[in-house]
This record gives sequence, structure tokens and C-alpha cells, in this order.
Amino acid sequence: MGLFDVFRRKDTAAKHTSTPTSSSAPAPIATGSTAMSTITIIGAGNMARGIATRALAGGYGVQILSRDESNAGTLANELTGTVTTGTLSAAITGDIVVLALPYDAALSVAEQLRDVLTGKVVIDITNPVDFATFDRLVTPDDSSAAQELQKVIPASAVVKAFNTTFAGTLVSGAVEGQKLDVAIAADDAEAKAAVVALVESAGMRAIDAGPLKRSHQLEGVGFLHMAIQGQLGNTWSTAVKVIGA
Ligand SMILES: NC(=O)c1ccc[n+]([C@@H]2O[C@H](COP(=O)([O-])OP(=O)(O)OC[C@H]3O[C@@H](n4cnc5c(N)ncnc54)[C@H](OP(=O)(O)O)[C@@H]3O)[C@@H](O)[C@H]2O)c1
Repeated sequence: MGLFDVFRRKDTAAKHTSTPTSSSAPAPIATGSTAMSTITIIGAGNMARGIATRALAGGYGVQILSRDESNAGTLANELTGTVTTGTLSAAITGDIVVLALPYDAALSVAEQLRDVLTGKVVIDITNPVDFATFDRLVTPDDSSAAQELQKVIPASAVVKAFNTTFAGTLVSGAVEGQKLDVAIAADDAEAKAAVVALVESAGMRAIDAGPLKRSHQLEGVGFLHMAIQGQLGNTWSTAVKVIGA
């Protein structure tokens, strides 16, 4: 049995156990056999707000975990839908886990939570920019944040997504009336399909960017999008979009 056969077996079992915490919650949207009803977001900052907003709009329940639960609670109070909160030691209820953390924190939290992340789809959203120079990525030239994360949690299925979408645009869900494009890279087909279902349920366009190693290029795009903000008015409200398809 291969590594991700373990993931698939656990995933199938988990689909039948997710329970909404509020009777007023919207029903999860059925998007096929890979649909998942709850996502866990670790971190309670800007990207947690954006991804939680979109996931809730798509009918998913959201669990927000933060090292300071009061920050998770503050964010939860801004949101509408089925939201639970906890600390990093809380039981993870989502089948998809988003690490909405700086790159170095994502690696250390993943290492800390390696056992409970086993069999989960783990979304890496990071742009591993060297913030001291804002002139390079800190990852090795032949790798990416997502690939480095996969090494830390080999029994999880790491998926790269959302690194090219700014937090504010995720909250609004569109830029100039156009759906956001979310490029998704992963080696595990079922994990990728689960993230595609999340993205499409949330009203965005999912673009299959290929295997996890394509994260190297996606992180370059994310960095470039950040680096050109000064030229674009520093609004951080722009979107990277492929048109003509
Ligand atoms: N912002 C964007 O538009 C954008 C777009 C694409 C990708 N990203 C990527 O998304 C990730 C998150 O960005 P963000 O803008 O959401 O950042 P943020 O607003 O600063 O939020 C970061 C979160 O990480 C938590 N955190 C930081 N260090 C931690 C640690 N060592 N252990 C546990 N939690 C820790 C913070 O908790 P505390 O509140 O307790 O400090 C906070 O909840 C980054 O990797 C970034 O590259 C951001």
C-alpha cells in the first residue's frame, strides 16, 4: 500500500463524520466524491480571514486554530457561518488543513503537528520571501516552500494553492467583477481534486498547475506580484489572472 493510499482510506472514513456545529449553517455543497465539508485553518491573520470567508461562502464549515485562541475568536466573530475555534493543540476537525502562517512558522507548526496531520490534505499558501532584503526567496533554488513542507509531513498530502491571491481579494471574492484564479499544484490527484472542489464551491476558478514541484514557479509568481505592488499603487487589491481561456 502506497503512502497516499493511507491518506485516501482515512479521507474516505472522515467524510462521514464531519458534523455542522450550528443548525443554521448552510449545507455543504456536493461537488462530487472528493467534496469535503470542513476545513481547518491554522492561523488567524489576513489569509485566514480571506480563505475562511470564501470557504464559508462555498458552504464549508471552518475551524480556526491559533496559538492565541482569542485571535481565532476575534476572527470568528467577523465571519458568518459554521465556525469553531481552538488552540494549536485542539483536535483537528477538517479534512483539509490550511497553514495560514509565515513560511518558517508553517514548517515548525507542521513538524509539531505531524502526527495529527497524517492523512490530511494540507494546503501550503506561503510565499517564502526573504523579508530582510525583499529580493529573493529563502527556499533552495531547486525546491519550493511546498516541497520543503512535504518533507516535514511526508504522510500528509501537501497542495499548493492561494499563494497568488491577496487576502483582501479573497474576502471580496472577485476583482473588477472577475472570478479569482487559484492555481493549484499537487502530486496526489485526490488531494488536488479536494482543493479544486473547495475553490470552485467558493466561487473562484481553479487552475491545475501540475505537480507539487510547480510550486517553485507559483512562488515566483507570488513574489513577483508582491514586488510590483509599488508600481501598481500599493493597493494589494490586484489579482493574477489568465484570460482568454
Ligand atoms: N497576505 C496576503 O495577501 C498573502 C497572499 C498570499 C500568500 N500569503 C501567505 O500567507 C501566509 C499568511 O499570511 P498573512 O497575511 O495571513 O499573515 P498574518 O496576517 O501576519 O497572519 C499570520 C498568522 O500566523 C500566526 N503565526 C505567526 N507565527 C506563528 C508561529 N510561530 N506559530 C503559530 N502561529 C504563528 C499569527 O499568529 P499571531 O496573531 O499569534 O501572531 C497569525 O495568526 C504567509 O505565508 C504569506 O506568505 C499572504
